[in-house]
Amino acid sequence: MVRHTVSRRGPNGSCQLAARWSALPFAWIPSLLEGLTVTVTEQSVPSHYDRIGGAAAVKAAVEVFYDRVLADPELAGYFADIDMVGQRRHLALMLTVVLGGPNEYTGRGLAEAHQPLGIPQAHYELVGAHLLATLTQLGVPEDVQDHVRAVLAQVQDQVVASGSRPGV
Ligand code: HEM
Repeated sequence: MVRHTVSRRGPNGSCQLAARWSALPFAWIPSLLEGLTVTVTEQSVPSHYDRIGGAAAVKAAVEVFYDRVLADPELAGYFADIDMVGQRRHLALMLTVVLGGPNEYTGRGLAEAHQPLGIPQAHYELVGAHLLATLTQLGVPEDVQDHVRAVLAQVQDQVVASGSRPGV
C-alpha cells in the first residue's frame, strides 16, 4: 500500500507564510503561490513481516512454536516421523507469506499436506493456540496477531479433516 503525503513549505517556512497572509491585501496571492513548493512523498507502509523483524523474527517464532507443539502430548504424535528441519523451514516460508513478506513457499498446499492426517477440530484449535501464545511470548503486536487469527480461521477447512467438523 502506498500513502501519499503532500507537504507545502515556503522558502522561509510556514511562520513566515502566516505573517505574509495577515499583512497583505488580495493582490499578493499569486506571489504567495509562487513561493510555495509542493512535495509529494511516496511512503511504503511496512508489512507485518517487516514490523516484527523479518526473517529472523519468523524463524524465532517457528522455533518456539514447534518446541511448544512437540512438548504437547496431544500433538507430538503427529510429528513423530516428520523431518522437523524441513517442516520448520516450510512453516517459516508460509508464515512469511501470511505476514506480507516475500513468497518463496515451495511446500504442498495446506489441504494436500493435512487432509491425509485426519486432524480433528480440537487439535486444530490447540495448534492455533500454540501459535498465538508464541506470538504473544515474542511480543508480536496485537494487530499482527489479529491478522494471524483471521488467517487461521480462513484456512481451517483445509487443515481439519472433512467429516470431523461440527455439522459436516
Ligand atoms: C493453520 C494451521 C496450520 C498451518 C499453517 C500448517 C502449516 C503446515 C505446513 C506449511 C506444512 C508443510 C507442508 C509441506 O511440507 O509440504 C505442514 C505439514 C504438517 N502439518 Fe501443519 N499446519 C497447520 C496445522 C496443523 C495441525 C493442526 C496439525 C496437527 C494437529 C498439523 C500437522 C502437520 C503435520 C504432521 C505435517 C507434516 C505432514 C507430512 O509431511 O506428511 N498442522 N503444516
